[in-house]
Amino acid sequence: MKHQDGVALEVDRLTKVFRDRGAREVRAVDGISFQVAPGEIVGLVGPNGAGKTTTIKCILGLVRPTAGRVTILGRDVASHYPGILSQVSAVLEGSRNLYWRMTVWENIEFFTGIHGLPRRQYRRYFEHLVERFGLADKRDVEVRKLSQGMKQKTAVVCALAKRTPLMFLDEPTLGLDVETSYELRKTLRELAGEEHRTIVLSSHNMDVVQDVCRRVIIVTAGHVVADDSIGHLIGLFKTRAYRLALRGPAPEGLEASLAAHFRGVDVQNSPYMTQVRLRLPEPDDIYMLMDLLRDAGATIEEISQEEPDLEKVFLEIVRKEKVNQCNS
Ligand SMILES: Nc1ncnc2c1ncn2[C@@H]1O[C@H](COP(=O)(O)OP(=O)(O)OP(=O)(O)O)[C@@H](O)[C@H]1O
Ligand SMILES: [Mg+2]
Repeated sequence: MKHQDGVALEVDRLTKVFRDRGAREVRAVDGISFQVAPGEIVGLVGPNGAGKTTTIKCILGLVRPTAGRVTILGRDVASHYPGILSQVSAVLEGSRNLYWRMTVWENIEFFTGIHGLPRRQYRRYFEHLVERFGLADKRDVEVRKLSQGMKQKTAVVCALAKRTPLMFLDEPTLGLDVETSYELRKTLRELAGEEHRTIVLSSHNMDVVQDVCRRVIIVTAGHVVADDSIGHLIGLFKTRAYRLALRGPAPEGLEASLAAHFRGVDVQNSPYMTQVRLRLPEPDDIYMLMDLLRDAGATIEEISQEEPDLEKVFLEIVRKEKVNQCNS
């Protein structure tokens, strides 16, 4: 893969093999390649043990890759280490990203300070972040006294406060309540837009990824198995599955006549309402469906197409990948 202008991050055939003494080797990352453009928020998803955290750690130079190359803003990470880290911030999964005996504000000042940001100049920006993440009334509280979600938000604020062009978030919404997770998602979307940050976000929560990212990279067993816009991926998995609600009980013979023409017909009958689910083989078959319903004397109360979401797409891709691996 050649470096192109305007690439914030390039990962080229990255491989990491862990060799534990006596134990068999683990190929945690097995030739992963991708590029991220400036201002893009990319989701990095995959089952447990797929190699997401190892990939991020290799990019950050925390784990030495067995092979492959990482370029950040056009500069090779290995030959510009550790200076290149001034361009990157990260919130890593399960690790202590904060000093627990320091307050929220002290943590922000500490981490931005070692990053070389003069606190006077950026004070207003730090205040803006603290405000935005709902931590204003906790800014002088020691981190150890915060709830899990507040600690997580403080870690994200400290990472954002460094104002780096590139940012890694490994499971940023883990342990956050619904409202806080929603707020964090909204803030990330806005910050990426307003400040043109490049963010790589790893999460098991597909709602978060679908909400925040336009593009997703799916990794299984150390390989990239999909790298596409979320909208396109969902489009590929559209099945023309429909759900209909009919007034009253199902007319006699309706199920049999539907089953003769369509796939996956499921009729749930009740005295007041009948639910029908089916898949149309061709787009034009919707007309035939309407004719059959009219001929049967059915009254349609509601009709909707069942849209797959990222979670369904993810499960389907990972399932197929497992079958492929078993067969090979
Ligand atoms: N330090 C290590 N030594 C040996 N093996 C390791 C080490 N770190 C990770 N691994 C192995 O590498 C593989 C990938 O792990 P990694 O943490 O990258 O997965 P992940 O995709 O982040 O998973 P999760 O969704 O559970 O966070 C796993 O098989 C794991 O056991
Ligand atoms: Mg991980």
